Amino acid sequence: MTRLLGIETSCDETSAAVLEGAGDAVTLCAQVILSQDVHRVFGGVVPELASRAHLTALVPVVERALADARTDGAPEIDAVAVTNAPGLVGALLVGVCFGKAFAYARGVPVVGVHHMEGHLFATSLEHPGAVPPFTALLVSGGHTLLLDVEAWGRYRHLGATRDDAAGEAFDKVAKLLGFPYPGGPPIERAAAEGDPARYRFTRPMLHANQRPEDPGFYDVSFSGLKTAVLLAARDAGDLERERAHLARGFQDALIATLVEKTYRAAREHGRTRVVLGGGVACNRALVAAMRERLAALGATVYAPSARLATDNAAMIARAGLFHLERGARASLDLNAFASAPIPGLITE
Ligand code: KG4
Ligand code: ZN
Repeated sequence: MTRLLGIETSCDETSAAVLEGAGDAVTLCAQVILSQDVHRVFGGVVPELASRAHLTALVPVVERALADARTDGAPEIDAVAVTNAPGLVGALLVGVCFGKAFAYARGVPVVGVHHMEGHLFATSLEHPGAVPPFTALLVSGGHTLLLDVEAWGRYRHLGATRDDAAGEAFDKVAKLLGFPYPGGPPIERAAAEGDPARYRFTRPMLHANQRPEDPGFYDVSFSGLKTAVLLAARDAGDLERERAHLARGFQDALIATLVEKTYRAAREHGRTRVVLGGGVACNRALVAAMRERLAALGATVYAPSARLATDNAAMIARAGLFHLERGARASLDLNAFASAPIPGLITE
């Protein structure tokens, strides 16, 4: 049994968590997530401000998590897991430097964790069934990834976005419709009031006769949809009156594509479990549509609750535990990288 401190600072959430256990039998003892609100006035994350906010917040966030995890006496921490890629490099460095210093001071090992692998593990923290083999759809602000997960650490890359990530599409469409940042939640709320028949945008990258060997079979793309919404908004006249309908048309098209691509992935690989992750997995309409479509395969869809869908340190600790158990140890020159492929990709 290992007790880990997880640290996540790749974007605009400063988070620390204490997780203990072995393999998939883990307990989340404490988690603190501090969302930086300084970016709201700019309508998007400002990297330099994110780094500075992590610097101020990280020590108290870790102290709070350690204090919350305390059962009797000081919590023993056996290892540290910290996100070191991908993300904003200045923001990542704050977590990486802190994690290494903490580990060095306590004489415990540290491991670097790939942020998207963290998202892959997140759902299993609250759904014991969300373990391999499964089809994974990771939809966040920076990434959209469709993977076949044979086992933890063995991932087959099936598809990705060719331009905007799903969350980025929500954020950009929100901006052009006049909703605040981050755009996912206000679009979802507005879409619930919108008329689905008013704007029916083309479903991106979906053609009836696509075959698994076609390059576009699993990939997605949202920039054309974003432009279609922009043009429709310009023609709409009274944007105030049309906003909810436009939000609905956009969300329906994006969801239809994500659901169909995930359905194809599960069908082609004979998976009966589908795991969603990333901030966009908070979207109830996406989860409902996914469940409805995947029921045709008799597949169960697992979606994380909001605190594990958006960026958090618990998922980093869980992915870090997996690597520690396999013997991984980072040296004290562990660095941060803005981009890096998810580890464990099957290449043949
Ligand atoms: O995973 P995450 O917290 O951060 C990244 O790693 O990027 O994802 C943030 C993204 C944002 O783009 C946000 O608009 C989106 O998740 N999001 C949503 C919803 N809640 C958050 N998108 C759609 N519907 C939601 N309810
Ligand atoms: Zn994320």
